[in-house]
Amino acid sequence: MINIKSDREIDLMKQAGHLNYLTHEEIKKHLKVGITTKELDQLAHDFIIKNGGVPSCLGYDGFPASICISINDEVVHGIPSNRKIKNGDIVSIDFTVRLNGYESDAARTYIIGNVPNEIKDLVKNTEQALYEGLKEVRPGARIGDISNAIETFAHKHGLSVVEELVGHGIGSDMHESPDIPNFGARGTGPILKEGMVLAIEPMLNLGGKEVCMLEDDWTIVTTDESPSAHFEHTVAVIKDGYVILTGE
Ligand code: MF3
Ligand code: CO
Ligand code: CO
Repeated sequence: MINIKSDREIDLMKQAGHLNYLTHEEIKKHLKVGITTKELDQLAHDFIIKNGGVPSCLGYDGFPASICISINDEVVHGIPSNRKIKNGDIVSIDFTVRLNGYESDAARTYIIGNVPNEIKDLVKNTEQALYEGLKEVRPGARIGDISNAIETFAHKHGLSVVEELVGHGIGSDMHESPDIPNFGARGTGPILKEGMVLAIEPMLNLGGKEVCMLEDDWTIVTTDESPSAHFEHTVAVIKDGYVILTGE
């Protein structure tokens, strides 16, 4: 069953999403060569709490930090550590913030210093793939329309699509129905309705689509060690399309 949220609930979720946005902006200010991923995690944790939110990744299924930081060939769910950010890294930051009893979920990938053009394109095109998916969001459209738009755009730009991890509905729970794969056929899957809230999140690789999990039981990496990028927004389906909840 796909949850329909009232206007009031969507307004509360927008407040949660805005705090998620502000936290991303705070992290961005400190994301420089030499800072450790643990330091970034700590400042995000403190910022969320200071603003009345809950860093809801912390403890989720036993996840040991407030934000996921995934570098280069790490796709998602990287655990903050004493690893220092260095020139040439691409750094994906993904986390949820809980406020007013509702979750918000957003991810961005940053380029640190100088990277080859093909990696710049990977990051730019993964962000654009998210927007290609979002363009499909309106009442009456199908989940498969979003999936297909992302997949088509990724393949057009020579990128592969991670299949094991998917976007999702979101509300008082971080992960609600439906699943939103980043590949699939148009005209298939659940029909979108006004009041649904979705977290759409393409994860695209420069090399092959295969991924595996590290021994920490969390970090997902590309099997061929090629770089991977990830962008995510939480959006509500509204009368004439969608509204991004994890924005300004
Ligand atoms: N933010 C992730 C998602 O996009 C989930 C994070 S898993 C956690 O669905 F354990 F870190 F919470
Ligand atoms: Co996320
Ligand atoms: Co998500």
